[in-house]
Amino acid sequence: MSNTATLEINGEKYEFPVIHGTENELAIDIKRLRGGTGGVITIDPGYKNTGSCESAITFLDGEKGILRYRGYAIEDLAEKAGFLEVAYLLIFGELPHAEQLDKFHSDIKSHAYVDEEVKKILDGFPKAAHPMGVLSSLTSALTAFNPSSVNVDSEEAMYNAIAKILGKFPVLVAWTMRKKTGMPLDYGDDNLGYVENILKMMFKRPNQEYTQNDIIVNALDKLLILHADHEQNCSTSTVRIVGSSHAGLFASLSAGISALWGPLHGGANQAVLEMLEAIREDGGGTKKYMAKAKDKGDPFRLMGFGHRVYKNFDPRAKIIKVAADEVLGELGVEDPILDIAKGLEQEALADQYFVDRKLYPNVDFYSGIIYRAMGIPVEMFTVMFALGRLPGWIAQWREMRLRKEPIGRPRQVYIGENHRAFKNLNER
Ligand code: CMC
Repeated sequence: MSNTATLEINGEKYEFPVIHGTENELAIDIKRLRGGTGGVITIDPGYKNTGSCESAITFLDGEKGILRYRGYAIEDLAEKAGFLEVAYLLIFGELPHAEQLDKFHSDIKSHAYVDEEVKKILDGFPKAAHPMGVLSSLTSALTAFNPSSVNVDSEEAMYNAIAKILGKFPVLVAWTMRKKTGMPLDYGDDNLGYVENILKMMFKRPNQEYTQNDIIVNALDKLLILHADHEQNCSTSTVRIVGSSHAGLFASLSAGISALWGPLHGGANQAVLEMLEAIREDGGGTKKYMAKAKDKGDPFRLMGFGHRVYKNFDPRAKIIKVAADEVLGELGVEDPILDIAKGLEQEALADQYFVDRKLYPNVDFYSGIIYRAMGIPVEMFTVMFALGRLPGWIAQWREMRLRKEPIGRPRQVYIGENHRAFKNLNER
């Protein structure tokens, strides 16, 4: 395999090293391109061909539909591991032993509260505020209560900061939902598992004992694992780039939450459900929506379809589709939009437009149907995605800081006006 790549510009040849990933991925290392060529850069809007870093966290092969965290197949993790184990794996690189997992959980629990003044900030939001905006703001506000930045050279300080955010973030998530549903704010219960506790914080009514439903706990655990990392996607790249300026962990995460909010990214899970609902209200026929999705003059896209990297199937979508059937069956929920979703998927997979462009259902296509069956309001769906993605963001931020990556600062090709003389106001 070649170890160099040659580039010819204006008759001049330049050699660049080729980097080999552990899964035989090849990348041309252009770190010395600009300096060596007297100013030439590459341009790649949307970074479709650009690697921003070397990373040992997540591997995905979009052609083969493979996703692995730290070498472990997503299918195995979703079936055999718990969310907190997966969080530990992503962040620290290995599956924890029983004692490490116990310690990790109890360290997280020791931080599972927020300053009472956070309630005042939450109070300031109108009830109609979108939960993603609220979550991003509250995560950023944590900085005010934890002003000193993490000493990334201290393993202990790093570990404590990680336990702190893993403890506090579920409280913010639950409060964001309770704000929306008008429920009094509540703290969790240290005797419960991490995911059970999150559900209790979200759903406990002030006048009732809370009873845990194992079907819902297991379903949420699986969904969180499936969302936990996805290498250099939009929100993760945001976390890394904001963190690369040495902005703090909470500020970097808050930026990641804002990036996730968009409907082309994590916001798609809400958009899918709204689309399926609109189809149902329209009589259930999918033809009109398929035609709109294919019409280049119409901005409408089939939400939950397509992926930048997966050009075969999204392995997470496969698992979630099976889980949707199981969870709705076990909970005894009959939701007509599950059938609409399945019909739409079949139709799209057989349609030349979608076949030619290799558009398959992605992680967001079926997840909202499960969230809805759990009783989670539609505007909270992307918040649930953020909850799952938190360990991935932390792992990527930690890796970026430990590798001492430089500040992220892309170049551009300027296409504006050349130098021109200033005209005074009365001359324009
Ligand atoms: N419906 C209709 N056409 C589509 C769709 C879609 N969902 N997705 C892509 N296309 C078409 C697109 O119009 C383009 O057609 P043409 O080649 O004729 O111009 C072609 O497929 C390639 O699309 P692209 O926009 O260049 O691809 P991309 O890699 O830049 O975008 C995407 C990927 C996920 C943003 C896009 O597929 C999309 O908008 N999907 C719908 C939103 C969605 O479900 N997002 C969740 C993504 S997975 C979870 C996550 O990332 O958070």
